[in-house]
Amino acid sequence: MVHVAAVCALSLLTIVVSAQYDMVKEYTGQTFFDDWIFYNNFDNLTNGNVNYLSAKDAASQQLAYINDRGNAIMKVDNTTTVTYPNRRSSIRINTKDRYTIGTLWIADMLHAPYGCSTWPAFWSSAPTWPSGGEIDTFEGVNQVTMSQMGLHTADGCTHTNTSMQTSTLINSTDCSTAANNNEGCIITTPTTASYGAGFAQGGGGIFVTEFAATGISIWFFTRASVPDALQGNASSIDPTALGTPVATWNSDGCDVTEFFEPQSLIFDISLCGDYAGNSNSFYQTCTGVCYQDWVLGDPSNYDNAYFEVQHVRVYGQPGELTVIGSDAPRTTVTVVLLIALLGLSVFTLL
Ligand SMILES: *[C@@H]1O[C@H](CO)[C@@H](O)[C@H](O)[C@H]1NC(C)=O
Ligand SMILES: *[C@@H]1O[C@H](CO)[C@@H](O)[C@H](O)[C@H]1NC(C)=O
Ligand SMILES: *[C@@H]1O[C@H](CO)[C@@H](O)[C@H](O)[C@H]1NC(C)=O
Ligand SMILES: *[C@@H]1O[C@H](CO)[C@@H](O)[C@H](O)[C@H]1NC(C)=O
Ligand SMILES: *[C@@H]1O[C@H](CO)[C@@H](O)[C@H](O)[C@H]1NC(C)=O
Repeated sequence: MVHVAAVCALSLLTIVVSAQYDMVKEYTGQTFFDDWIFYNNFDNLTNGNVNYLSAKDAASQQLAYINDRGNAIMKVDNTTTVTYPNRRSSIRINTKDRYTIGTLWIADMLHAPYGCSTWPAFWSSAPTWPSGGEIDTFEGVNQVTMSQMGLHTADGCTHTNTSMQTSTLINSTDCSTAANNNEGCIITTPTTASYGAGFAQGGGGIFVTEFAATGISIWFFTRASVPDALQGNASSIDPTALGTPVATWNSDGCDVTEFFEPQSLIFDISLCGDYAGNSNSFYQTCTGVCYQDWVLGDPSNYDNAYFEVQHVRVYGQPGELTVIGSDAPRTTVTVVLLIALLGLSVFTLL
């Protein structure tokens, strides 16, 4: 009898630590923007030639709104002729909640910004940077045709084992912000359907990021190849049903628990700045002078500089406190339930 109870308690624990994630937060529809903070300052982080608007200004200038399909639009101003030495209006938002190790997030996008001078990203970061780590799920600059993924961390985190991923396009392996001018450990998503006109023409796609103690993994699915596990309103996700990730940084080379703290999710669109504007990157796919010829130029340069997002969903390991911030009570209930169940097992043992 005692043994049976012990086995029950053990199998319960096994279920709890398995790779199943349950939805803890959804950003979608008319309320998409409710739980994000608008940056409301010029780009003082990466030297881009943009002013990131407040929520109020973004709404009134129609740079962040819900379109008639119920999707969230975030865009660069493509109506104003900006004069020297001014900045162009754009959007940078981050989630009010932060998500711990043991979470997985999904961004379902129909369109993402592209074109000379643009630098869009969907990524995450801890408030303490770089010690709390940064995970870049989707990023690109100018007219590149494939998006990139990567990590930025304190010293000591490297991408040592690339055998557990589909991408063989390995740009760099030292994740330290102190190495290679903060290039990060970068992987290129090996399809032109992951960025720019190719992404838009295919109806966009879904990026999945798993933030686990054993490693950080990112998947990309084109609209035409979305797996069953992600169809509809999946209330739980088992990442083993997603196949091999595009990139995995496993804990052998980078101890996730050492280099990462709870992450806030971020969308932004910068212009020029440290990455799109540096001459190495800029002249790979564009001509002219980034600020003078593009930011100050014809505003129709930015007709394609927008995100259209169907939803962002976050999933957490059941029984763990995975949401730091306004949504904590939901997981607390699960923790209490787990404690109650464990208590019951202990009681049975006695
Ligand atoms: C950027 O501007 C914001 C708002 O004024 C400020 O809180 C923050 O400290 C600035 N960051 C840097 C790196 O200057
Ligand atoms: C990389 O990880 C895989 C799976 O864990 C393992 O089989 C392989 O031996 C590792 N390779 C190296 C070079 O450590
Ligand atoms: C990364 O490597 C791929 C393949 O070699 C290349 O096409 C791409 O331009 C590189 N990306 C960067 C940012 O250098
Ligand atoms: C998806 O499911 C979640 C939780 O199961 C629910 O809160 C949300 O409203 C659903 N969204 C849609 C678009 O049906
Ligand atoms: C600006 O971009 C949007 C797409 O985001 C497009 O519909 C519109 O025609 C563009 N031009 C102007 C002048 O608004």
